[in-house]
Amino acid sequence: MQHLIRTSDFTKEEILDIFNDARGFLDFKPCDILKGKIIVTLFFENSTRTRSSFEIAAKRLGAEVVNLDVGTSSQKKGETMYDTVANLNAMKPDAIVIRHSVHGLPESLIGYVDCPIINAGDGRHSHPTQALLDLFTIYEYFEGKTDGKKIAIVGDVRNSRVAGSNRRLLPRFGIDVNLVAPDCFKYEGNEYKQFDKISDVIDDMDVIMALRSQLERHNITYFESLQEYAKDFCITMEHMERKDFLLLHPGPVNRNVDISDDALKHPRCKVLEQVTNGVAIRAAILKKLILG
Ligand code: NCD
Repeated sequence: MQHLIRTSDFTKEEILDIFNDARGFLDFKPCDILKGKIIVTLFFENSTRTRSSFEIAAKRLGAEVVNLDVGTSSQKKGETMYDTVANLNAMKPDAIVIRHSVHGLPESLIGYVDCPIINAGDGRHSHPTQALLDLFTIYEYFEGKTDGKKIAIVGDVRNSRVAGSNRRLLPRFGIDVNLVAPDCFKYEGNEYKQFDKISDVIDDMDVIMALRSQLERHNITYFESLQEYAKDFCITMEHMERKDFLLLHPGPVNRNVDISDDALKHPRCKVLEQVTNGVAIRAAILKKLILG
């Protein structure tokens, strides 16, 4: 049995197979591939896209989805996370999708279950399905020719798990990762090129991925206001006109902080296409992990 905790759980070949399946699911036609299967979703952090995207993907494939309302679950009565998950597992679900603010928590549950665990985001660590849908969006845009492409990931690269998963995944497909951030958001390692300003890299970039400032993970206030940050790090029409890069963002977008209103409407901004691709990628991942 296979779990998805981090993108390195899949080989390059497995990822390309997932992309092939995802392409087939992009017509959004209902089918019976997972008929009779039950998928449990457990979200201990907010989610709009990821949770609904898993749910829609599962339902398009004929599976049923049970969402545990963590606000009313027995965790409030003192049950440990491990007991909650062992109890859910005793009801024989076919997969458990989990998001939690603690780094490593989804992985630590593996010994308590008999079904695949899918990490839907753990703290600052990983968000593998997001990175796979980001790579898929890039891969389709460049018709598979990702080798030698350059990406700038802009913003809170220190606290973003989307940045974490992408910076580990994209180089496996020949993509050169550059990080652009103010000092307070810089990544602490030295495996990647880091820059202070968008203007330092923009002329060379094929892809720009903007990020939301992960305010919920900051324990101090770094900027007087997000507008202050936006002056240097918001992607605007001026950037769109200067270089023909593909613009991505995992969502939720803080308008006019991460990306300006008009840049969001630009044809090379594929934020909503990422969301559509997210359903197809998650359908392909559910199929692979549940049917093997
Ligand atoms: C991201 C997350 O939760 O890490 N959202 C998402 O799943 N698309 C990014 C974010 O919250 O900024």
